Amino acid sequence: MLTSFLPVRHVSEFAADVRQSLTKLGQRELPSKYLYDEVGSALFETICVLPEYGLTRADARLMEKHAGEIVRRLPSPIKVAELGSGSGKKTRWILEALSRRQRTYYYPIEISPSALAACAKELGQIDLVSVVGHEQPYLEGLRTVAEGRGEQDHLLVLFLGSTIGNFDRHAGEEFLKETREILQPGDALLLGTDLEKSVELQILAYDDPAGVTAAFNLNLLARINRELGADFDLCCFRHEARWNNVERRIEMHLRSTRRQTVHVPVASLRFMLNEDETIWTESSHKYKAEEIPQMAERTGFRCDGQWIDRQWPFAQNLLVAE
Ligand code: AVJ
Repeated sequence: MLTSFLPVRHVSEFAADVRQSLTKLGQRELPSKYLYDEVGSALFETICVLPEYGLTRADARLMEKHAGEIVRRLPSPIKVAELGSGSGKKTRWILEALSRRQRTYYYPIEISPSALAACAKELGQIDLVSVVGHEQPYLEGLRTVAEGRGEQDHLLVLFLGSTIGNFDRHAGEEFLKETREILQPGDALLLGTDLEKSVELQILAYDDPAGVTAAFNLNLLARINRELGADFDLCCFRHEARWNNVERRIEMHLRSTRRQTVHVPVASLRFMLNEDETIWTESSHKYKAEEIPQMAERTGFRCDGQWIDRQWPFAQNLLVAE
């Protein structure tokens, strides 16, 4: 695989983000994108095989079952870009179906070099598929891919795994609008969205009994210790998953079990946490199936198809740029 290698986003950018989010008035936060260093990505891969976390299997089942039909609805020739490739396992079906009719170019866009490498290994072997990775933020990478396409080429953008759920609803729509601006009419976006289910099931999916999700969440503090020289004492934090019924999302927090002071030297930061104060690390918004076509219309797309998994409510949505 070729990788467009940009010098790693500076430590200073990580430090500035950590500083800004941890010193927010009211609720302290950390940006969820930093959960995915090498350790975090490996823990996330483990989350995906937990019995309590049905999301990834539902996503993959839908791709396997409907790849042929999805591909039949796409214009030709078409190049494929994926936002947040992860390990690339779910993408195989689409690439195999496409490569039966044409040589297929696949551009995974991913800020995690380890995930990008895993994806290249998984998908680089398919006949008639060329993988060109971009280690860039999503929209930056998508712009690079769109600028490099041929006159005749259409684009299919994959945004799977309900990653859109990390954005709050307003920001998610803004993201779809920005994506649409990079695309041409007729280009497509295949969007995976996790659907609402019982609160009990949703909490279990984000607070599994084996503690893998807890480790995934706590690793964010360990990463800040490793990379920014901080002294978070992981023993004094507890993983927490909450259902926010107003925003309809799961929130992951890290709860401080006692009053404590933390130093983050590289971010020139020193702050105090009260007992029971939390740091909010991630949101996973859940959707109703009807919400997606409405979102599509407000953002310059039309929803051309929706496939729902019955075992674990999850929808694959084919949006076409108008
Ligand atoms: C990769 C953002 C879709 O929100 O379900 C899984 C991340 N966090 N368990 C999700 C995650 C905790 C996941 N996404």
